[in-house]
Amino acid sequence: MPAQAMTAAGTPAERQTVLHSWCIQTEWNAPTIVGGEGARLHTADGRTILDMSSLAECSNLGHQHPRVVAAIRAQAHKLCFVTSSWGAEPRAELAALLLEHAGFAGGRVFFTLGGADANEHAVKFARAAAARPWIITRERSYHGASYAAMALSGDTRTVSQVDAAAFRVVHVPPPYAYRCPFGTASPEECAAAAVRRVAEVIGELSAGAVAAVMMEPNAGSNGIVAPASFWPALCAATRAAGVYLIADEVMSAFGRCGEWFAWQRYGAECRPDIMTLAKGLTGAHLPLGAVVVSASVARALEPQMLMTGLTYCGHPLCCAAGVAALESYRDEGLIERSRTLGARMLGELRRMQARHAVIGDVRGGHGLFAVVELVRDRSSRAPLAPWPQMHSALRRLLESALGAGVSFAARGNLLLLAPPLVIGERELAEALALLDRLLGELGASV
Ligand SMILES: Cc1ncc(COP(=O)(O)O)c(C=O)c1O
Repeated sequence: MPAQAMTAAGTPAERQTVLHSWCIQTEWNAPTIVGGEGARLHTADGRTILDMSSLAECSNLGHQHPRVVAAIRAQAHKLCFVTSSWGAEPRAELAALLLEHAGFAGGRVFFTLGGADANEHAVKFARAAAARPWIITRERSYHGASYAAMALSGDTRTVSQVDAAAFRVVHVPPPYAYRCPFGTASPEECAAAAVRRVAEVIGELSAGAVAAVMMEPNAGSNGIVAPASFWPALCAATRAAGVYLIADEVMSAFGRCGEWFAWQRYGAECRPDIMTLAKGLTGAHLPLGAVVVSASVARALEPQMLMTGLTYCGHPLCCAAGVAALESYRDEGLIERSRTLGARMLGELRRMQARHAVIGDVRGGHGLFAVVELVRDRSSRAPLAPWPQMHSALRRLLESALGAGVSFAARGNLLLLAPPLVIGERELAEALALLDRLLGELGASV
């Protein structure tokens, strides 16, 4: 007898009682998960699923990481909650660890509940520190699903739900080199043009109006991995304009891109002024986000009244999970492991690209994060389906993979590969072999 509540018709009761995110409710047909270990999840009907997306690109440490689970248990025994305006030991410890790993000496950390509110608070802090209102973000970006985070996002799925200008947000075209919005075939020129556009918009808004530019240094659920020259150039441009740079590292941090934080790939001189975190911060064992601000932003904020806060900001249980998560990344060498396995995964995906014409582009791979963009025709780069729709053949691929015990994530024409950093080498090879076979079948069917 499965552990979950079932209806008379044998379907999970959850189908009738819960509103699920990012899906049509009547089509909801996801497995119910009752346990997990490493990169594997256990379903209520007794199956095992190999997780090739770290669920929502967040379970970087795998599922039920013993050290994190033990830390939560120990903290629960000691103290579950203290209000965010009072002190809590695990909160102080986690803030110190984050500042150390980020090299933000003299900086400060504000804890939130997740990524969207971390981004909203980063914007509040940038505006308060700069005493300027406007924020520049990218088209085709994702910064969260609460209202202000939706305004920050240039997400085609939700852009019509919110008036970005009312939130004083301007979107600029992305450095999407495979389909460059500036009409160049050169990735470097595309990156340079995208940065020039940011500088132009800073100039076009009335003098001294822009507080910050918010972008992801790497990766991203919208599947754009910028050319390597983009972040250093953006850093230089924002510095020259005297505008804060906010790195949304919600997805790209904690080894996902082969570094503690993705911007570190470009060196200390490309450090942002503010960095937002969530997901891998606790390896998704408990909800937690953070805004890490540099010493100069901290100095600007220190004398001000901080008119913000959520009841559960810096919750001790979540912070204890965060401390154990950071210790696990460090002690198990998971950042380096991600870099090594990411390079292997990238090599395998490029070999698949040589075999399957349906693969137009393969990007990322600096850590265990890669994007595979599928096309109808490789020479014209015609997309498999118009963005952000998903072709039925890709939907079938995902279903077949799940049927074979492997879960892949996809958005539109993009397969997003982001397994837990603890995935076994054999597990990774098995999952990629399955993907290779299924892409062959998909290519033959479209
Ligand atoms: C880059 C980025 N920023 C922000 C968010 C929002 O985080 P959350 O879902 O924790 O609010 C996400 C979530 O996928 C993300 O990928």
